[in-house]
Amino acid sequence: MNKIIRNGTIVTASETYQADILIKKGKIDTIGTALKDEGAEEIDAKGCYVFPGGVDPHTHLEMPFGGTVSKDDFETGTIAAAFGGTTSVIDFCLTEKGKPLSDAVKTWHAKSKDKSVIDYSFHLMISEMNDKVLNELPEIIKNEGITSFKVFMAYKNVFQSDDETLYRTLLAAKDLGALVMVHAENGDVIEYLTKEALSKGQTEPIYHALTRPPEVEGEATGRAAQLTGLANSQLYVVHVSCKEAADKIAEARKKGYDVHGETCPQYLVLDQTYLEKPDFEGAKYVWSPPLREKWNQDALWNALRTGELQTIGSDQCSFDFRGQKDLGRDDFTKIPNGGPMIEDRFSILFSEGVLKGRISLNQFVDITSTRSAKLFGIFPKKGTIAVGADADVVIFNPEVKRKISAATHHMAVDYNAFEGMEVTGEPVSVLVRGEYIIRNKQFVGTPGSGQYMKRAKYGQLSKAADNTITIQ
Ligand code: URP
Ligand code: ZN
Ligand code: ZN
Repeated sequence: MNKIIRNGTIVTASETYQADILIKKGKIDTIGTALKDEGAEEIDAKGCYVFPGGVDPHTHLEMPFGGTVSKDDFETGTIAAAFGGTTSVIDFCLTEKGKPLSDAVKTWHAKSKDKSVIDYSFHLMISEMNDKVLNELPEIIKNEGITSFKVFMAYKNVFQSDDETLYRTLLAAKDLGALVMVHAENGDVIEYLTKEALSKGQTEPIYHALTRPPEVEGEATGRAAQLTGLANSQLYVVHVSCKEAADKIAEARKKGYDVHGETCPQYLVLDQTYLEKPDFEGAKYVWSPPLREKWNQDALWNALRTGELQTIGSDQCSFDFRGQKDLGRDDFTKIPNGGPMIEDRFSILFSEGVLKGRISLNQFVDITSTRSAKLFGIFPKKGTIAVGADADVVIFNPEVKRKISAATHHMAVDYNAFEGMEVTGEPVSVLVRGEYIIRNKQFVGTPGSGQYMKRAKYGQLSKAADNTITIQ
């Protein structure tokens, strides 16, 4: 059924204005005033913002990691994402050395196909670079529309690749039209610091942070940026946690390198002291890179405001406190890294960012949606409110106050890292391709209704795509 959203304030990355939206066949058909369409369902968005659905460029749903598997899968994770205002996710597809890349992609399709309630795509992990991989990549791009590769510079003996692999991936990506993503921490130095800590009996969660200091993130970020410059390629640094790393990205961009950076809600709001919580509670806050000293938060907000960092990912990788995080009760290296973040990404950025004057409303849309859609080849179908775009729409009440809590969240895990935090603003209804997924704060979607998104090559989105907003 066609729908008309009336009385709302439409917000895109560049404009804020009052208009109605007519949705037909899952697409935004018309934007204008006093729109008429007989029989269309009327949606009253009075007092609400009408945002493009969030694009979360960084999730790990049902991912094997640290001797266990992340708890939220494509069903619970994408339902929680939808409650939080996210309508597209790009998840990391893990590959194994010596095995065809296509096997890994098949595994990820099997995990997601009948479960996702929102649209989704995959980034492809590159764990080795050789002729076999090089021969397979063009097929993966053509058949799967996977146009971003991920290289880990940390997690030694698990995911970590060497610099030759990173450099060759950058060269291949330049030729193939893909964006290279890095987890930038110096894994070799972390390994050394970790062994040293354990040999001194330093086993508590706080040592996770102390053995991964900001310098190891800054060094790896700078190294990846320099290699990108040398290869004349393109880079996206995931989960930037500290000033050292943000500065390296800014430095590279000043030199004209095609380098982009993402941060995550946890680094903007939480800090290293959380890892010192008693009774092993610090384990709830174990991420890599780790939470930093509080003063870094200002540096990250500032980098988002000035455009030195461009996006926010959830890095959703959730584990129960009881039964998963506690695998590392006697040894911090055994605590599975990651946290539940997919649901609160949008609200945290609105409440802590827009309402506290750190970023503008239009920057909020750019950071949570538009920029990721552009960088990862799904704009303008996703990431904006424009005629012809998919009707992925969030009707957002900016006034309502609420407390974040595991008791009310929709993620599958037994804690929320922001427990008790008061935020203002909440998605009321969320549509994906014109269909309600969340209606008046109730889930009304269907597992499996999310569609796989084949993505355009990096840099192929024409500038004209920025000018597709038509007001009638
Ligand atoms: O601690 C984190 N970030 N867990 C998820 C995996 C990764 O490194 O992104
Ligand atoms: Zn990572
Ligand atoms: Zn991650």
